[in-house]
Amino acid sequence: MIFAKEVGESLTYKFAQAANEMKAQGKEIISLGLGEPDFKTPDYVLDATVKAMNGGFTHYSATQGLPELRKLIADSCNKAYGSDYTVNDVIVTPGIKAAVYFALAAVLEPDDEVILISPYYVSYPAMVKLAEPTAKIVNVTLREDFTLDREMLKAAFNKRTKAILVNSPNNPTGTVLSKEEVELIIALAEENDAYIISDEVYEKLIYSGYTHTSFGLYGNIKNRLVICNGYSKSHAMTGWRLGYAIGANSIIAKMNKLQQHINTNTCTFIQKGACAIYQNEASHIAGYVSELEKRIGFFDTELNKLDYFAGIKPKAGFFYFADISAAGVDSNTFCADLLKKTGIASTPGIAFGPEWDRYVRFSFAVPMSTLERAIGLMKNYKYGK
Ligand SMILES: Cc1ncc(COP(=O)(O)O)c(C=O)c1O
Repeated sequence: MIFAKEVGESLTYKFAQAANEMKAQGKEIISLGLGEPDFKTPDYVLDATVKAMNGGFTHYSATQGLPELRKLIADSCNKAYGSDYTVNDVIVTPGIKAAVYFALAAVLEPDDEVILISPYYVSYPAMVKLAEPTAKIVNVTLREDFTLDREMLKAAFNKRTKAILVNSPNNPTGTVLSKEEVELIIALAEENDAYIISDEVYEKLIYSGYTHTSFGLYGNIKNRLVICNGYSKSHAMTGWRLGYAIGANSIIAKMNKLQQHINTNTCTFIQKGACAIYQNEASHIAGYVSELEKRIGFFDTELNKLDYFAGIKPKAGFFYFADISAAGVDSNTFCADLLKKTGIASTPGIAFGPEWDRYVRFSFAVPMSTLERAIGLMKNYKYGK
């Protein structure tokens, strides 16, 4: 296989790996690199999964996913969107990443164009190229205040556009598309007969005063929409590898064919355990959100007082995308220097798009004490000295 340049090593992992090596040498490491909640998976999910394992859910499931779980997902989405999805419109996948990749692989054909909104989730370009090596990626770059440049968006669409891959709430900026922006994307997708693949993994982690507009609310685009979602962030289940896609049945059916040949099905007892997510109140989420909101309030205020960083307070999720132009170096060099001098692991902005080489991403999904320590160390940090 010829690996396109987009299919390089994930920079998020590269820096996390370097940090781990320093840790193994006994150095103090503050990990603000990977986006992994420090919360615990809710007990009701753990208990239901152990019960499923002991109860014999240790064999293959339907490749598309356990009908019981798909029904719960469809019902929950229908309640939220006022839609009429059925079990056949849902596929359960090993993580949200797999859902996004399968959706791309199901719709893309040679020489298609795919629109990404930059900064984008680090794996999107690689996913596009793995799904269809000849596909052309067209970036729509957000403005410096992280709002959508409508003219650039309009100019990105044409008759070769097969899909737009959207991630709102967004990693890495923590921005949320407004209802008007969502509706503009819908209008352009309809006009150009393009699919919308919407990764809504951070939809539950929204801070006060902001709202998330799901593409699922728009029944008129049902045939061109795939929503990818899951529990990695909302239920602190990153290691479980569980996600799903819900959307146009023609695409979901193709995604199922891919899954049949690639991983057969998502782990059966995990799927059974995940049914508990829908059978219990997600009361922990309010706690997560208020804790994250406290952290982000602190981090935003303190970071903006420092020499090298300028940032906009995120509206959702758990990342802070800080402008490091004041340091006068590229993001890889900056992150390497910061790691070496302070032990703080972050992710270089270039990982999220070529236009973001003057930015660095910090995760605030770590205890407050860790953020306080990081700020303390950054106060004394001088680039290059
Ligand atoms: C936008 C986005 N999509 C997908 C994922 C991955 O989700 P999962 O671990 O469920 O595959 C992440 C994780 O950071 C993400 O930020």
